[in-house]
Amino acid sequence: MHPRFADYPAALSAAALAAEAFLQSLPTRPAGVASQVIVADDFTTPIGAEAALADFRARHEVGLSGSAGPRYWGFVTGGATPAALAGDWLASAYDQNVSNDIGSVASQVERETVAGLRDLFGLPDDFAGVFVSGATQSNLAALATARQAVYARFGHDIAQQGLSAAPPLRMLAGAAHSSILKAMAVLGLGRDALQPVATLPGRTAVDVAAMATALASGEGRPTIVVASAGEVNTGDFDDLVALAELCARHGAWLHVDGAFGLFAALSPEHASRLRGVEHADSVTVDLHKWLNVPYDSAVVYTRDREAQRAVFRASSAYLGDSTDPLHYTPENSRRFRALPAWMTLRAYGRDGIAEWVQRDCTLARAFAEGLRGIGGIDVLSDVHLNIVCFALRDGDAVARDAFLDRLNRDGRVFMTPTVLFGRPGIRAALSNWMTQPEDIEIALAAVRDTLRD
Ligand SMILES: Cc1ncc(COP(=O)(O)O)c(C=O)c1O
Repeated sequence: MHPRFADYPAALSAAALAAEAFLQSLPTRPAGVASQVIVADDFTTPIGAEAALADFRARHEVGLSGSAGPRYWGFVTGGATPAALAGDWLASAYDQNVSNDIGSVASQVERETVAGLRDLFGLPDDFAGVFVSGATQSNLAALATARQAVYARFGHDIAQQGLSAAPPLRMLAGAAHSSILKAMAVLGLGRDALQPVATLPGRTAVDVAAMATALASGEGRPTIVVASAGEVNTGDFDDLVALAELCARHGAWLHVDGAFGLFAALSPEHASRLRGVEHADSVTVDLHKWLNVPYDSAVVYTRDREAQRAVFRASSAYLGDSTDPLHYTPENSRRFRALPAWMTLRAYGRDGIAEWVQRDCTLARAFAEGLRGIGGIDVLSDVHLNIVCFALRDGDAVARDAFLDRLNRDGRVFMTPTVLFGRPGIRAALSNWMTQPEDIEIALAAVRDTLRD
């Protein structure tokens, strides 16, 4: 046995104690911490695992945010439930390489988890999914697959031949997330290739009539439509039924970015906003957001395995040419990401997950209501799901930044800036499993106090 093998129990016990102390501190530690310059670490003198952990805690733990806690409302951020965290720890301890089906059951567990999630979201059985590291990567994988599929209809095999001889692609979207543009840059399509389509007045949902006009003009080119379900500033949903009909009529691929909005399927009040997603060609869903598994975890669902495989296959004598996961994802070697999600499904089931999804939606509405009662604040959008977007009534971007800086330094709550309908705004996205009604009161008090400062 390796002499260091005996270090495992002490290192893991120390890590468990550290984790417990950190998790206990979440409701009271600052939700966000101002970034700070850290003194360079000494990586030359070996000190052993336990001492290294103690050193990290002493020097850096104070600088970590409470992003896994109940009042970190920046970006779209989930925490980690007990079951998910236990699964994540074990994913590291097991350290399986889920690139292939050989020698481990891990890839089968992943397939079962992907199917369980598909049922949870009410997607049809012919959607095949694989785990990736986040919604950005999921959008990238979906759009690479979409491009392969739509060009194939025009007789081009992009994965094999490249783009040089191919006609230009059309990408149409209303309020697409910036990760769609990133994917276009990575794929060599170029960010400029996105043809923005108007959104409805006072909404971030796409104007279907404008989309119909855009699709009808410039017909006869490979076309991808990206739909938002929901949109990152307001949680609003595109009309997926109408977009699916238009895409079918014009031979376009429909990709639905449901990074967090796909969880609306679990809320009886909101599920109808997803009608039509069953007709999509590909769907993105993030799990480190509302499923509350630790980073980094998402699934890409597509309906064209052949196109997906054409893009991502990495066949070689030593890797084989089977149905192994590595032939369907950007990575070859892959972490056992499915385990935290599997644990979540088994531990809490549909009802347990639906409970925190519904609660976050209800609390987002309560927060917006509370804000409406504070003089000097405008709520900029209806609360479509779990996001509240608001602005200082008289403030420009400089005033907004100064206000947000004071609010975040206060530490009771953490939010992030945006611009909505031309106004400098502030977003609060509630997607943590722990958030409770008292957190809304604490956050409203923080907003009131910061306005008075
Ligand atoms: C709609 C949407 N798509 C994609 C992303 C990107 O997610 P990630 O940062 O997990 O890659 C986000 C993140 O907030 C999002 O809201």
